[in-house]
Amino acid sequence: VSRVIPVETFDLVIFGGTGDLARRKILPGLFRRFLAGQMPESSRIIGAARSELDADGYRKMIADAVAEFGGEESSNTKALQTFLERLDYVAIDAKGDGGWADLAKLVRPDVIQAFYFSVAPSLFGDLAERLHTNGIATEHSRIVVEKPFGRDLASAHALNATLAEHFDEKQIYRIDHYLGKETVQNLMAIRFGNVLFEPLWNNHYVDHIQITVSETVGVTGRGAYYDRSGAMRDMVQNHLMQLLCLIAMEPPGEFEADAVRDEKLKVIRALQPIDNHHIVRGQYDAGPDSQSYREDVENPRSFTESFIAMRCHIANWRWAGVPFYLRTGKKMKARSSEIAVVFKDLGHTIFEGDEARHRNILSIRLQPNEGIDLQVTIKEPGPGGMRLIDVPLDMTFADALGDDAEEVPDAYERLIMDVIRGNQTLFMRGDEVEAAWRWTDPLIEGWEARNDVPKLYEPGSAGPEDAMMLLHRDGRKWRDIK
Ligand code: BG6
Repeated sequence: VSRVIPVETFDLVIFGGTGDLARRKILPGLFRRFLAGQMPESSRIIGAARSELDADGYRKMIADAVAEFGGEESSNTKALQTFLERLDYVAIDAKGDGGWADLAKLVRPDVIQAFYFSVAPSLFGDLAERLHTNGIATEHSRIVVEKPFGRDLASAHALNATLAEHFDEKQIYRIDHYLGKETVQNLMAIRFGNVLFEPLWNNHYVDHIQITVSETVGVTGRGAYYDRSGAMRDMVQNHLMQLLCLIAMEPPGEFEADAVRDEKLKVIRALQPIDNHHIVRGQYDAGPDSQSYREDVENPRSFTESFIAMRCHIANWRWAGVPFYLRTGKKMKARSSEIAVVFKDLGHTIFEGDEARHRNILSIRLQPNEGIDLQVTIKEPGPGGMRLIDVPLDMTFADALGDDAEEVPDAYERLIMDVIRGNQTLFMRGDEVEAAWRWTDPLIEGWEARNDVPKLYEPGSAGPEDAMMLLHRDGRKWRDIK
């Protein structure tokens, strides 16, 4: 029995349809949804970009992209053929008139329309305007916009204002693909679907929380973008902040887009300013067989960070006094993302000779090996007397789901289907994005003004030594990255 939720017929226009994201993620993802039976027969995907291609040329491009990035499914050539028949293409000029009349002919007014702006943010305004002046968009259309959503509060505010001239907030889907990850959604299920955790989810029982997003890739190939952003703008302002919100927010009154987003916004607003003492910026050095960050971005004097670790506090009743330690970096020792809720020590032990500190730790693994484990203390089995050890109660999703694990859609697939369904729960609202910038802006401005030099770290490590110290000073330690 298929558990796939059916969607209504749609026309999805992808501006930037020949670009990297479209070829790597969007189209291969849509093909997987097609295979899962989630694309009604008369639905269409229309690529729109500058290149002078015809529909067949585009189909060929996407067939190659699916072969390259689509995984195992791409060997299903018969299905791929049928999928490709649903594709169309329009050569379009975002800043001129070219192509708009053709697009208007293709997009049907009586089905769900979604316009994916997979282009530079400087074109958002042009696209939004032309969709209206050419009579293509209706009040039911949806637009999808990618990050980066601005590079500071002022630019994000300006972007929001531009979009608001043409579309209502209910029509705007700002993607943060971390919200589409299976475990991230599970975070809400765990917190609000169990009686066990919520009573402990506060400063009486939680010692601290760690959020780690560690990557092994460097920034080769996207140096021009990355060097102007750095880890704070590229990862913390959006992905890590969203994770922080879901961990820390109050239970929403219902599982509905604005109810959830209202609670997330409150968390961001309650974040205290951080002083520099509690931030460590790093930049990867050259390794035995790899280039340094500065070589990768071709900027020998770059002060941009490829790693950041920080200690944050949320000023509210639930979290007063509980540090949230965040870290993320490129060229680290493993690709591993995890949220760990470290509970407090037992105040007193009744077990003689048990000096070890036993702690319950709930670890939520985003990738790889998505799953959750809870470290609990038990008696060491066997005749050794009452000796205590810590063991994980492990729920790796792949084990729990068996064959069904393959059906778990990737973040982009899930989010695109949510757009078609009209469900904004996993998308950022305009005020959320602005609040996040409002918090990060002074930090970034501070180090830009003083030309703060990031600490070098070895590629393949856990980041600079100072990041270890950040927790050491508090008598704590980071979890291993593995
Ligand atoms: C993107 C960042 O948003 O997320 C990249 O721009 C980063 O720098 C990527 O590599 C990480 O995503 P994922 O899904 O691979 O963890």
